Parts: sequence; C-alpha cells; structure tokens
Amino acid sequence: MATAPDIRPTVDYRHLVQDGRLHGSLYTSPQIFAEEMEQIFHRGWSFVAHDSEIPNSGDFVVRRVGTQSLIALRGKDGEVRVFYNRCPHRGATLCQTASGHRSRITCPYHAWTFALDGRLIGLPDEGAYPPDFSKADAGLTPVARMDSYGGFIFVNLIPNQLTLREHLGHATELIDALLGLSPTGRIQLTAGWMKHKMRSNWKMIVENQVDGYHAPMVHGSLITANRTFATVRDRKPTSPTRVRDFGMGHSDIDHASDYRAAGDRLFRWTGGIDPERLPVYVKAMDDAYGPEDARRRLIEGPPHSMLFPNLSLAEMNIMVIEPVSPQHSIQYTIPVFLEGADDLNARTLRRCEGAMGPAGMLIADDAEIGELTQMGVANLEPEWIILSRGLGKEEVLANGVKLAGLMDETSQRGFWSHYREVMAASQEASQ
Ligand SMILES: [Fe+2]
Repeated sequence: MATAPDIRPTVDYRHLVQDGRLHGSLYTSPQIFAEEMEQIFHRGWSFVAHDSEIPNSGDFVVRRVGTQSLIALRGKDGEVRVFYNRCPHRGATLCQTASGHRSRITCPYHAWTFALDGRLIGLPDEGAYPPDFSKADAGLTPVARMDSYGGFIFVNLIPNQLTLREHLGHATELIDALLGLSPTGRIQLTAGWMKHKMRSNWKMIVENQVDGYHAPMVHGSLITANRTFATVRDRKPTSPTRVRDFGMGHSDIDHASDYRAAGDRLFRWTGGIDPERLPVYVKAMDDAYGPEDARRRLIEGPPHSMLFPNLSLAEMNIMVIEPVSPQHSIQYTIPVFLEGADDLNARTLRRCEGAMGPAGMLIADDAEIGELTQMGVANLEPEWIILSRGLGKEEVLANGVKLAGLMDETSQRGFWSHYREVMAASQEASQ
C-alpha cells in the first residue's frame, strides 16, 4: 500500500541563503519559522538564564526557548535545574509569573506538589491511583541537556552532538572579556529585565545587533543629542573598528580596537568617564589584576556581540531575543552589574534606562527600523535582500575568525552561513 505523500513542500535553505543575498521569505514564512524553532532553538544550544538571577534556593525564572516554556530553578542543594513548565499529571502550566521564589512548586489544577529538585512529594488522595502508580515516575521533567559558561546557562532540548563548549567555540573569548571587567570575575543580572515587543522577525534583531553600518543613519538623533555617542558619529569607513565572524553563527563589533586607538581615554565604553570619578571600581580592578592588566581591560571594555541564536552581550547590556511569530519578537534587555563596582553600576543603570528603557533613545530607533523592514519584506518584489557588502575582502585568521571593516556585512553573513548549515543539514540528514 502506498504511503501518504508528505504534503509539506521542502524549503531549500541552500538556495534561500546565498553568500551575498537572502530570500525575503526567510523573514515572513510561517513554515520556515516553525522549522527554525525546532532545528535552531530545540535541537541547538540556547541561552536560558544567568546564575545570578536565581541566587537562592527556591528562586526561579520562567523562560521561553523556541516554542517551549521552561522553569530554571535553584534547588536546596544549590544546583540549578531546568524543567518543562508543565505538570506531569494533566499538563497544566505550573509557574505563571516570570520569576519568583517558592519553597515547593504546586500545580494550580490538582495541587500536585513538587520539591525544588523536581520530585513529586505530594498529591491529594494518592491512594485512589492503581498499585502500579509511582510518585517516583511522576516528577517534573528536566530538559535533556543543560550546561553553563561564566554563569550563562544554556539548554539543548532535543540532544545534538555538540557540547556547549563546542557550540560556543571562539565566543567564549567574548564572555571572558565581559567577565574580565569585573574585579571578581562575576557579573550580576539583578536589575530586572526590560521587555520590548518588536514587530520584526527575530533574525532582523540578530542582524542589527552586530550591524556597524546603520548607526550614523538610524541613530542620528541620538548622536546629535548625546556627546557620548561621538565615537559613533566620528566613525569613518576607515575606522579601526572591525566586525568579526567567529564561526558557529557568533559575531561581534570589536570596539576594543577603536578604544585602543583612542589610547589615553579610559572608560570610553562608559561614555568617557574619567577614572578619578570611579575610584572604587578602579582600585578594585587594580587590586584584582595589577595596574597594567587592569588598564588594558579598562581601555578595551566590554564585547558588543551576538551569540547564536538568542544571546547578545551588548556592551553593558545583556539582550535576549525571543521569537514569537515570523513577524513578532520580544527583546529583553538587562544592565550588566559588575560585582565590586557599585560606583560604576549606578551609572550603568542610568545609561541602560536612557538607551534601552521604555522611552529609550537607542532601542526605539532599532525597533522602528525593524518594523519598517518587516513591512518592506512582506512585499513580493524584489525577492532578494542584498548582503554582500565587503564580501570576499575579509581577512581570515589562522583560527578561522574572519575580520572585516566596521561597515561590512561580514557579521551578518557569519550568522547566515551557520543558519544555512543548521537548517539544511537537518533536512539532508532526514533524506
Ligand atoms: Fe541600532
């Protein structure tokens, strides 16, 4: 007997994602969106939470990874576990708030109650179940794999072949650079997340995070209004700043080269604060790393990077991208506090509110251009998007990292070439 034909047409990702151009349907197709959720977010490694968000036993956050709602929860033993946000009994959602603190997790439907390590510890009228019912088999379901680097916790829901370290590859350098600005090597994501609904496809936000080309145009009003953004205004195509493609879809804008060229101006990444105005932080850095190494770290500043697929180390903000539909995403931002740097942290908070807050001067510009681009690509013609700026002119280092000019589209191409491998390889494996 003939089997039913697979009625789903196959998307040819190797055709839609070319080295210098992209097909517009990548941003609009519901089928492509659904395949991305599975292939990239469920079968790959995705950021879920940071250690510092849930410091105490019983602290939890609820996060969405792909289509899945997850609870990251710290147990009595101090370990973080990540569970599906679903009662094993009849499937009700367990935690309805974005974060909180519980001594145990109780389902709102039939009051099945779970310990912080996921064990089922109580349920009403347990004796009514058949003899083969076992509480030991009805605990919360943990995700297949979780691992962390520098306090950043990642999950892999459908197991793949890669370790987290293999997935991160050269991007561990970026996390190290951020943590290396802290006198203790630790950061604190404790200020609370700002949440923006973006009317654009999640990949547009990824692309924009490491786009060195748009700032003088899209952020023109901010640059005019705020002298601390003069570094952006003054950039020319000959700027020493480079974009880098680290492989595995990770990329950055390497501001450190710009800051090094500026030489004597410490703290350019803070908006040009004099060292004398941050005595607590500077002394703590000197004590931790010695004056010479501390000075190098303070000149070079934090990374401005995008880690495939959903985590951006955006200087003194962490940003997380949550896809909602082909046309909608949620962008979460939180300021990075450095442990042992209270004087700097107070300024970081104000700067993040000013740039990323509800009336923020930076994120609103990017949200608007994202919405305009999403509306634009909904038009059928022209079919293709041009992404060839600087193509073929990249410098390739011995370790495979590609360098290009600030305004080249090498960082976006880095994302897309990994995207193509992930999306096409999964199809080819099933053929
Ligand atoms: Fe921007």
